[in-house]
Amino acid sequence: MTDNDKYTSYLQQSITIKGRSVANRLFLAPMAGLGHVAFRELVSEFGGYGLLFTGMCSAKALPHENPKFSPVFKWREEELPNLVCQIFGPDPDSMARAAQRIEQEGFFGVDLNFGCSVAAICKRGCGAALLKTPVLAAEIVARVRQSVSIPVFVKFRTGWENDPALAMDMAKRFEDAGADALVFHPRVAPDRRSRPPRWEQIARVKEAVSVPVFGNGNLFDINDASTMLDQTGCDGLSVGRMAVSKPWIFAEWSQGFAPDTATYHHTAIRMTELLLKYHDEAFAVRLYKKFIPYFSASFRFGHSICKQLLKADTMENLRGNIDRVFETDPETVPRPNINLFT
Ligand SMILES: Cc1cc2nc3c(=O)[nH]c(=O)nc-3n(C[C@H](O)[C@H](O)[C@H](O)COP(=O)(O)O)c2cc1C
Repeated sequence: MTDNDKYTSYLQQSITIKGRSVANRLFLAPMAGLGHVAFRELVSEFGGYGLLFTGMCSAKALPHENPKFSPVFKWREEELPNLVCQIFGPDPDSMARAAQRIEQEGFFGVDLNFGCSVAAICKRGCGAALLKTPVLAAEIVARVRQSVSIPVFVKFRTGWENDPALAMDMAKRFEDAGADALVFHPRVAPDRRSRPPRWEQIARVKEAVSVPVFGNGNLFDINDASTMLDQTGCDGLSVGRMAVSKPWIFAEWSQGFAPDTATYHHTAIRMTELLLKYHDEAFAVRLYKKFIPYFSASFRFGHSICKQLLKADTMENLRGNIDRVFETDPETVPRPNINLFT
């Protein structure tokens, strides 16, 4: 058995969260604008994951959202048993009301966003801003916990200062308030993914609590996955941008799936079909254009592929570009070109 086989078999193990079994230990991280229903369907066609997370949804808006028209609060019935809806909000009331709707709709769980450091979110007292007010953050967790019986996840960062003790303190508060699992992204809040995450802090958070802890940040290949599991003892992994670059990454890491050129071409075309299944053409093209830089990052000449693919305003043109790019059998790279990861 190679080392990678060892980790593959660990990732394949099921895990129980609040009495509910999750098939394996790989999660799709929440990503606004990228982790939409069409993308999740694409990922589900490859399989190999435990849970998928939606992009963040406003807790205030969520009780009134109509999934037929909402671009974010939208799902397929079949994905609900493995789908967690992420919400952001500034107060216990709105977060609890949103969680109740999420439970009524039949999602696997609800995830509370205490990690987003985008100014527009933090200015409203949401996301990572709540790490400045630990008592309020814990109150939100407690209220959500009391309001629903589905699993409650918390996704958070180190805090606003690079002090692992703060992250450990927050983790304990979340656990005491009733969180069932934590997803930890070990970066300080103002850091927009420019510096590497400090994986060693995941080990500290794991030490601090007894609920499952999932590690997140810069998992690019199976060696990263095994290193994070080894160094931190975390219970599983949450993968963000790399899943957009390779929507089959969960199947690759947990089931040994091996992509070829046909996989890349198929994936690029399938994404156009799935976006059109859920959205009008103009919006579908917009969402496709967000997908392109990440998808292109897995090729040696990713910048040029990205430029070629982006030169289109209709799905027909996009498909023509995709066919032309893949006619040439472009060379892939083992690790992505992260300059293309925004
Ligand atoms: C475009 C984009 C949108 C994101 N949106 C969210 C979000 O809605 N909620 C959240 O908790 N994190 C969000 N994140 C952060 C990711 O979940 C993840 O923590 C981060 O990308 C690091 O993981 P990675 O290196 O595997 O990508 C987003 C990241 C990106 C790149």
